[in-house]
Amino acid sequence: MQAQSPSENAKEGAEPGFRIPDKGMFISEYNKKIFAATRMPERVKILDTTLRDGEQTPNVALSSDDKLKIAQALDELGVDIIEAGFPVNSEGEADAVRKIAGAGLKSEICALCRASPSDIDAALKCDVDSVHIFLATSKVHLEKKLKITQEEARDKAVTAVQYAKDHGLIAEFSCEDGTRTELQFLDVVHRAIQEVKVDRIDIPDTVGVMTPTAMVQFVTELKKSIKVPLAVHCHDDFGLSVANSLAGVLGGAEEVHCTINGLGERAGNAALEEVVMGLQAFFGVRTNINTRKMAFVSRLVSQLTGIAVPPNKAIVGENAFSHESGIHVHGVLSECSTYEPMRPEIVGKERTFVVGKHSGHHAINTKLREYGLELNQDQMKEVVARVKKWAESGKKLDDAELLAVAYDVIGQETEPAIKLEEFTVFTGLNFTPTATVVLDIDGETRRASETGVGPIDASLSAIRAAVSKNIVLQEFRLEAITGGSNALCEVTVKLGDCEDTKLLSLGKSVGSDIVTVSVDAMVEGLNRLWHRKMNATNGQEKRKAY
Ligand code: KIV
Ligand code: ZN
Repeated sequence: MQAQSPSENAKEGAEPGFRIPDKGMFISEYNKKIFAATRMPERVKILDTTLRDGEQTPNVALSSDDKLKIAQALDELGVDIIEAGFPVNSEGEADAVRKIAGAGLKSEICALCRASPSDIDAALKCDVDSVHIFLATSKVHLEKKLKITQEEARDKAVTAVQYAKDHGLIAEFSCEDGTRTELQFLDVVHRAIQEVKVDRIDIPDTVGVMTPTAMVQFVTELKKSIKVPLAVHCHDDFGLSVANSLAGVLGGAEEVHCTINGLGERAGNAALEEVVMGLQAFFGVRTNINTRKMAFVSRLVSQLTGIAVPPNKAIVGENAFSHESGIHVHGVLSECSTYEPMRPEIVGKERTFVVGKHSGHHAINTKLREYGLELNQDQMKEVVARVKKWAESGKKLDDAELLAVAYDVIGQETEPAIKLEEFTVFTGLNFTPTATVVLDIDGETRRASETGVGPIDASLSAIRAAVSKNIVLQEFRLEAITGGSNALCEVTVKLGDCEDTKLLSLGKSVGSDIVTVSVDAMVEGLNRLWHRKMNATNGQEKRKAY
């Protein structure tokens, strides 16, 4: 099920966009029937405004370097137009937009401007491809905010578009608060700006007050006097931004404004990942987005903005392809479409089974097998019972705890083969953290020293150096259990072996010294990995292995 590679982005103007294999999505037949007779565009363009409207998310401020990283990721993702910022806002903002415009990206780079020549001059200095000019047109904005008449607003819009065109820019225009503007006045502005050759017109639902049914009719009506490509820009104040964006396309829009993870002013904007998957799944409309990269870009944006993705967020949330209930796990294990509307890999995610109160033996068995544990029926029954009891007491059970329960039931945690004999670590100001360990590995003494970015990194590297460089630290999780400088912390490590990617192991430890707790977790994980490797080779290869 290999997806085709995306075509070039908007700058090259190539068609027809990225194709998601139909086999990857399992959509209702009723939905297909309803839209079978509706005329849809072959392909819809995506304007991503994560770096502009997305940055207007309360408490988000990105550095120029971080903005450039996000822009590069959006370009790789296949976004047609990147709204890179609002240059007149500050010198720092202009600097970021300039850097992005100069980065040689395939996407069209756009800057936001008010309907004023000085804003457009600021954009011109950044060397962008296009400007997104906006001017509020609703009664409340004209009377209370801008304090100008409708005629003055129309003239300002015309002057600004004319100015942008005279300076060789692609011009997109938005009547801000468009969905609360009288249709007749919207029409007046749209006709006037088309006379001065505006390239695209956008309809913003600035405060997210539309419903999908109204949006279809609204866009259909406006479309009658709009001869240039039409975009929609929907906010999520009632949680309808994605539905309204899809409705906009049903009404005739050929471009959708969105942001990664639905970031944006107040409740946010339409989430790119949901819009793109919705367009393809429900209408068969393509975009240029390489959907397999969506989860990666979502994580990057979350990391750099500091805004966590809610676990239950559609498409890219941690739980979007996680299954806990026994009935669901059983179903998905025999046929994934039973409880999944699409395959996780098409959006760059993995299916996970979570162990908890609703788990049955299918989920628990699958999980334990990942770590090489095979249990008989009685042992399984006991593990399931203990897991349910644990979960019912309100505690979360992670993989390491499940493994500990299973080992307790099967009694297989034999004498550890790897024992920590000595351990020292030095760290300080202007000093490279350095750790030395002495390990007893099945009767053989091994010593290693390593440096690292911090004492934990140095210690874990020294242990790996003493045991085997084939060991890969796949995950390291550190959580504070209590507060204060003497807080209890919990460390979980997930280890793999690069010679045999099926070998996985977990180690977990709790204590108040984060360095020694990390070392203990690592040694526990290594012992489990050692036993798995011994079992896999019947003990014959132990000397060669580590
Ligand atoms: O929501 C909005 O109206 C905007 C404008 C700048 C188009 O973001
Ligand atoms: Zn907006």
